[in-house]
Amino acid sequence: MHLLHIDSSPRSERSHSRRLTKEFVERWVQAHPNTTVTYRDLGHHPVPFIDELWIAAAFTPMEQHTPDMRESIRLSDQLVDEFLAADVYVIGAPMYNFSVSAAFKAYIDQLVRVGRTVAFEPQDAANVFKPLVLGKKMFVVEARGDSGFQPGGRYEKMNFHDPYLTTVFGFIGVTDITFVHVENDEYGGHKLAESIAQARHQIAQLVAS
Ligand SMILES: Cc1cc2nc3c(=O)[nH]c(=O)nc-3n(C[C@H](O)[C@H](O)[C@H](O)COP(=O)(O)O)c2cc1C
Repeated sequence: MHLLHIDSSPRSERSHSRRLTKEFVERWVQAHPNTTVTYRDLGHHPVPFIDELWIAAAFTPMEQHTPDMRESIRLSDQLVDEFLAADVYVIGAPMYNFSVSAAFKAYIDQLVRVGRTVAFEPQDAANVFKPLVLGKKMFVVEARGDSGFQPGGRYEKMNFHDPYLTTVFGFIGVTDITFVHVENDEYGGHKLAESIAQARHQIAQLVAS
């Protein structure tokens, strides 16, 4: 089994998502000793935004790539290879302004690639996009400053984080996604402590199951 561990918080020791993805992966490896782990730190080492040359390369057949195009798409190819090689993803993702961080979004833009992670078949009008990343499992540890973003919560309509990740990873075929939420960073105290304890309990249960 191959696990891809991704963190996207720019914080280090203060980051709840980092601490909890680390705990998740350690527990997972203990429970599944045959696991190999690849680590990608988007928070400390962000990938570049896609640019004009990247877009030209992504939508031009490989055999027609100029040397510039080949260079501009090289990292994206590596990120896609790394993603496809994994069976399980454990991702730390802070909520920033109601969605994912720019670092995580930049990674997603590098990852969603026609012909590599999603097929584009305009002749099949009923099903133009076909996901290519099948049979994977994803766990997202999402850290938030506040709470109430769940269905029925006071900020439900402002939650563009979980629905976005479910949509974009579902688009490429990753539909088995479980969220672990750690909330109330802005309040601290017992509200934060309770949320961390709940998240840790959920992680232990998820790994055990
Ligand atoms: C730029 C920025 C934007 C944020 N936006 C939100 C937000 O929209 N909703 C929220 O509940 N918390 C928000 N927060 C709080 C973070 O989600 C919270 O601090 C979280 O714990 C960060 O993840 P980390 O602990 O892994 O670094 C924001 C924090 C920052 C720095």
